Amino acid sequence: SEATERPGLTLLIAAPRGFCAGVDRAIEIVERSLERYGAPVYVRHEIVHNKYVVDALKAQGAIFVEELDEVPDDAPVVFSAHGVPKSVPAEAERRNMIYVDATCPLVSKVHRQAERQIEKGQHIIFIGHAGHPEVIGTMGQVDEGDITLVETVEDVATLSFSQEDDLSYLTQTTLSVDDTAEIIAALEERYPQIVGPKAEDICYATSNRQAAVKIIAPGSDLVLVIGAPNSSNSLRLVEVAERLGTNARLIQRADDIDPAWLEGIGTIGLTAGASAPEKLVREVVEKLAEWREVTEQTITAAEEKMVFKLPRQLTE
Ligand code: F3S
Repeated sequence: SEATERPGLTLLIAAPRGFCAGVDRAIEIVERSLERYGAPVYVRHEIVHNKYVVDALKAQGAIFVEELDEVPDDAPVVFSAHGVPKSVPAEAERRNMIYVDATCPLVSKVHRQAERQIEKGQHIIFIGHAGHPEVIGTMGQVDEGDITLVETVEDVATLSFSQEDDLSYLTQTTLSVDDTAEIIAALEERYPQIVGPKAEDICYATSNRQAAVKIIAPGSDLVLVIGAPNSSNSLRLVEVAERLGTNARLIQRADDIDPAWLEGIGTIGLTAGASAPEKLVREVVEKLAEWREVTEQTITAAEEKMVFKLPRQLTE
């Protein structure tokens, strides 16, 4: 028997981590659409920002495209969890297409708030990251001139509204809780009249995953976040750890781990973004266990019981 003694490694595994209810639902929508309509089912944009998930659905007959004009009129199409501008379902209606909307209900909630704020005659300041599909989708709920994007506290200083203007704000669902609080404070300072949404737009999954990283990061020598480079909520988890002074790395899969990262390291914090399957977490644990004697410890910041209903067209 091999008597080689491997050095120990403590893994602090964050809970909650990985899939949120919106991602679960979006994946199930594509799978049920494949069952109901048969392959191919088109999906506009990556259904969720994870290559592993996208590849698995491709293998089942899903075809991923960026725009609706890449989809034939007679093929079913699913809209991704991030949401779409109003022009997209309008175009699908015009072409008489079968479409299924996998927009997360918590994103749809922000869309409805945007409409309501416009009905009240308010101009919307939207806090989010330029170019992210959710931002494009939410800004596309209202006329271009009715909404202004701000990404940072510095952006707030450049706004040219007055304290007489009717202003409201909304936010992307997957932002940094702390950064967003600072941006809102800056907005409220410049524009005391500004009104916010009834409840916070940052979703429960985003807040809970960040809260869990805040607990594990201080005791970790390194934090690994499993997620895609275009996944907003995953990138925020890296930032949360770094802000607490702990090195953090975004990895897509176990193979991305360089054994050199483990040098001199006794404790690793591990989490996964809302679009990363648990299978990828297990892969990482197994990979680390090839090099070290791993002790796993789960650190729970919150319990999650959220489940979202599927669209009626797939359950009837
Ligand atoms: Fe929805 Fe939040 Fe997940 S907005 S898709 S529950 S990360």
